[in-house]
Amino acid sequence: INLYKFDELDSTNEYLRRNHKSHEEFDVISARMQTHGKARRQNDWVSMDGMALFSFFLKERDDWEIENYLKLPLIAGLATINGLKKIENLEYKFKWTNDVYLKNKKLCGILLEKTENVYIVGIGINVNNILPENLQNKAISLTQLTNKKYQIDEVIKNIVSEFQILCKQLENGLWENILDKINKINYLKGKRIELKFGNEVVSGIAHNINKDGEIEVLMEQNEAGEREVRSFSV
Ligand code: BTN
Repeated sequence: INLYKFDELDSTNEYLRRNHKSHEEFDVISARMQTHGKARRQNDWVSMDGMALFSFFLKERDDWEIENYLKLPLIAGLATINGLKKIENLEYKFKWTNDVYLKNKKLCGILLEKTENVYIVGIGINVNNILPENLQNKAISLTQLTNKKYQIDEVIKNIVSEFQILCKQLENGLWENILDKINKINYLKGKRIELKFGNEVVSGIAHNINKDGEIEVLMEQNEAGEREVRSFSV
């Protein structure tokens, strides 16, 4: 794995959006700091020294259906957990669709973006940073739990190599094996969740993630007293 390290970038995802043509698939861009880190839904990712902040990309494959690409956030989540486990074996959970949780708090966020013919995977993990007090009820870092300091480059390389392994498995038709592993660490399972669709808010109890990468939700009783299971995609 080729790791390209920067002291400061606007965003490792944006860097690859601009420069992917001069890189190879799975080359990793990491930054100690980001001035304009991006999160999902147009939010900002507030970067701190001590976080693992990195991106890499996957080229579009001629023989992949669109459905495979929808699985990439889940694959990235499992790869992050597998990679972290090699460094520190804790009870990480995958929060559908894109987050890793530890002790009921957010440890890591994942942002997938497509540009031209590449899929950029951006990962931000709270590793050696101490979170500000106002975030400590929502987020956690490895060091805050264990009091240890970690080699960020090692963390990053482990995760990207796990991602490559899982991608190969996906290409070899092993999606169901991967999905089993994801469902074993499904953070939302059994929890009440609310999903918003425009003005409509639906609430129910989350169950497993299905073969299409959708989460299944046991809905509230309707007027006829029936409860249905609906599934929702990203
Ligand atoms: C989220 O939680 O919504 C996703 C956050 C993703 C943050 C990472 S940090 C490295 C990469 N570069 C970015 O600008 N964003 C991702």
